[in-house]
Amino acid sequence: MYTMQVDLAINDQQEQLDASKSDSLLDVLRKQGRTGAKRGCDTGACGFCTVLVDGEPEKSCIVPAANADGSTVETIEGLGSQSDLHPIQQAFVDNFALQCGFCIPGMIMRSKALLAENPDLTEAEVREALSDNLCRCTGYKKIVRAVLDAADGVDDTSTSVVADGGHLGVSNADGACGCCHDGGDSE
Ligand code: FES
Ligand code: FES
Repeated sequence: MYTMQVDLAINDQQEQLDASKSDSLLDVLRKQGRTGAKRGCDTGACGFCTVLVDGEPEKSCIVPAANADGSTVETIEGLGSQSDLHPIQQAFVDNFALQCGFCIPGMIMRSKALLAENPDLTEAEVREALSDNLCRCTGYKKIVRAVLDAADGVDDTSTSVVADGGHLGVSNADGACGCCHDGGDSE
């Protein structure tokens, strides 16, 4: 049951959304059809739900919707389209930096904030900045390379990166890799 409304400027569009007191920002985004931000852990641990709130990356599953009232929110839907990708999205494609893709919206939104703050990044800085965003599939090398390429504005499909960053680079505690897990979204 909805008990309040929150005013949000989502991807440059002013909206007034119904919310319950217990809703997170992720809840209200997804309830109204913006399912780009993914629900992974729902506890602030995985980063799949990362969006930008007033320009800062936030894990939207742990942001109470009420606290976001009056904020500017950027989600993956506000970036490029299938036919006109944002340069960061294009860099991920060019570097084959995704497998199931479940973590990618959060990775890209955090990368967008990172590059806006500092476009002249080192690999170590990219790795540190993305350490809050988990990926179960790619092994991170290709993701890091994509962010560095986006920073450089370089469309570089380095074969060494492809070879290094292959399947099964990262597994979870029970040994499952992201290529095998259910990457679908139940909502
Ligand atoms: S779903 Fe929000 S951090 Fe995992
Ligand atoms: S591509 Fe990152 S979790 Fe699958």
